[in-house]
Amino acid sequence: MKALVLSGGAGTRLRPITHTSAKQLVPVANKPVLFYGLESLAAAGVTEVGMIVGDTAAEIEEAVGDGSKFGLRVTYIPQEHPLGLAHAVLIAHEFLGDDDFVMYLGDNFIVGGISGLVDEFRETRPDAQILLTHVPNPRAFGVAELDADGQVIGLEEKPQEPKSDLALVGVYLFTPAIHDAVRAIKPSWRGELEITHAIQHLIDQRADVRSTVIKGYWKDTGNVVDMLEVNRTVLEGQEPRIDGEVDEASQIVGRVVVEAGARVTNSRIVGPAVIGAGTVVGDSYVGPFTSIAENCRITESELEFSIVLRDSSIDGVGRIESSLIGRHVEVTPATGTPSAHRLVLGDHSKVQIRS
Ligand code: TTP
Repeated sequence: MKALVLSGGAGTRLRPITHTSAKQLVPVANKPVLFYGLESLAAAGVTEVGMIVGDTAAEIEEAVGDGSKFGLRVTYIPQEHPLGLAHAVLIAHEFLGDDDFVMYLGDNFIVGGISGLVDEFRETRPDAQILLTHVPNPRAFGVAELDADGQVIGLEEKPQEPKSDLALVGVYLFTPAIHDAVRAIKPSWRGELEITHAIQHLIDQRADVRSTVIKGYWKDTGNVVDMLEVNRTVLEGQEPRIDGEVDEASQIVGRVVVEAGARVTNSRIVGPAVIGAGTVVGDSYVGPFTSIAENCRITESELEFSIVLRDSSIDGVGRIESSLIGRHVEVTPATGTPSAHRLVLGDHSKVQIRS
């Protein structure tokens, strides 16, 4: 069994972060979200991985390399434009050959891994198997309709009148039957070859399409709210560890990781939180569910329920919450008169100011 990992895409919902970097590499608890997926594929016994890459190919290749650090062998498959999940299958045909494969969306996060699911597929080997989860707002997802035996009888993309509350999770298991299906379908109104249409085509051809409802936690980290939520979940499970320096005047409460080379002075850190290597936190408060990456500087500030990417500084600005802050960002107070906010924001930035 091979894997096809999708790490291209447009990433419009995570702009401006995705103007300069791959959304699959945004860190969750200071580890790229993509790495959790690669680890779960390796744990499921998969070794051959085809990695779909787009505009951010160089950055993904630099981070993942040949895959050997995950126990995987990675082959890169460039996708010129993000023309859809089924398009990714189409261009990966040569790599996939006649093997069964698991398709994994590189920005999806599943607690508990996929080993059980992959084992079940290997044993029962239907034509395709999809993963589903109950959601409160099915209109925002691909939604499955099941018959009384749990067989999938229909799929709809973001339906106005959902036939169930079962949303498609970003992991799919396919036999080579999917290749004819992705060739048979036409692009949707949004110009993409939709994997839901390809699976619907299999159903229409009376193929055996089964589903498993996952019990554990799943999130698509494609937007900021969900990214912060996944970060919260992962931090909740982390073991506390202080490898960096924490001075006498500081207080560490709960599940806090301070990486080697990090320095905390005259500050209060309430976990779960992680402070990356080389980061300095001084005269500040870092509250629960916060991940600060490497080589950042947080001084005279308060930060909670947020992710800060590497090489950024936040100095003397009071309290920041529910925020995703990119790399090499500087947040400082505006001094002098008139009393005004001074902003240099990239395209598609979002700022909420409490004045
Ligand atoms: P999506 O999040 O559905 O699409 P997107 O990345 O274009 O994001 P947005 O909606 O914010 O513009 O994609 C799911 C995953 O699949 C993600 O890791 C990107 C990847 N992908 C590809 O590799 N190729 C594609 O053609 C598409 C559509 C997605």
